[in-house]
Amino acid sequence: MTKDMQAVVINHYGDESTLEMATLPIPEITDSQVLVEVKATSINPIDWKLREGHLQQMFDWEFPIVLGWDVAGIIKEVGSKVTDWKIGDEVFARPDTTRNGTYAQFTAVDTSLLAHKPNNISFEEAAAVPLASETAYQALFTHGHLQPNETVLIQAGSGGVGTYAIQLAKAHGAHVITTTSQSHFELVTDLGADEIVDYRNEKITDKLKNIDLVIDTLGGANQEEAFSVLNPKTGRQISIVGESKNTQDIIKDTNLQFTGIWLQPNGDNLQEIANLMSEDKVKSIIDSVFPFSKDGIVKAHQLSATNHSTGKVIIKF
Ligand SMILES: NC(=O)c1ccc[n+]([C@@H]2O[C@H](COP(=O)([O-])OP(=O)(O)OC[C@H]3O[C@@H](n4cnc5c(N)ncnc54)[C@H](OP(=O)(O)O)[C@@H]3O)[C@@H](O)[C@H]2O)c1
Repeated sequence: MTKDMQAVVINHYGDESTLEMATLPIPEITDSQVLVEVKATSINPIDWKLREGHLQQMFDWEFPIVLGWDVAGIIKEVGSKVTDWKIGDEVFARPDTTRNGTYAQFTAVDTSLLAHKPNNISFEEAAAVPLASETAYQALFTHGHLQPNETVLIQAGSGGVGTYAIQLAKAHGAHVITTTSQSHFELVTDLGADEIVDYRNEKITDKLKNIDLVIDTLGGANQEEAFSVLNPKTGRQISIVGESKNTQDIIKDTNLQFTGIWLQPNGDNLQEIANLMSEDKVKSIIDSVFPFSKDGIVKAHQLSATNHSTGKVIIKF
């Protein structure tokens, strides 16, 4: 195998023009990793937030940085201690958050983060899954402790995280309410939403009460007002976008709970979701597919950064 690969990198922080094609060495794998030939990756808001330099304090990396933290592909090499995975396996993963991301022809993935790609979905549909769906899973279940008879409000049900969250909550037996705009009503209903709040024309505070769990994907005033629709005894809000300014003041002297979370990539969570996909209980919603090229990734970042894409934006190799 050749030792070099093509990757789309950034050499400084900035707008989309900072993205450029480069030749880099194929990553070397550790004993417990596999090398995956990337067939598809997907865009997540972290990609363009990091590109713009907003996450410098969290990830103090040297340049060049290869963005992208979703992969679907084929194992090409296995580490010396890897026993459960073999060359040729079709896999997907949310790899560790390193500066060697997945906008590249090859990427190294720890086996604890891998899952088998379901046979009934394409590499593009698989690449949509890991980061967004594992986040939805951990918000709903690991931290939100959603029970089958409970009611959950999922903010932005038509987004990357929201489309998986609706389906996972529904498959678990919960009553699902979501916020979106009218153009997405049919979609979120098809995914399993029982009730919809049209965020452009309605307020959740006028329509909802006694919600057990809110999944906050929006933050700010949306997070703060959502406390007033929670069940005062059991209500909890899990945010994937950080704590709003007044959140602690709002929940002080109440029984309401708030937790801000950051995804911990987890192959077991992903395998559980993969099994639901094999049973056609969860599917990927794909807004657009762009080719692996500088131009393709620039267009994909621009679309994701509108905050109005539907489901996921994919890069196909
Ligand atoms: N903590 C973590 O580990 C973690 C992990 C993943 C994501 N995140 C963060 O979570 C956020 C959501 O990520 P994502 O990938 O789901 O985003 P996304 O796919 O870009 O979300 C786009 C969707 O949001 C909807 N939307 C926009 N404004 C809305 C509003 N005010 N009310 C209801 N829906 C609204 C849009 O619907 P319309 O077109 O109908 O407006 C669109 O379909 C991002 O900030 C991301 O960085 C955090």
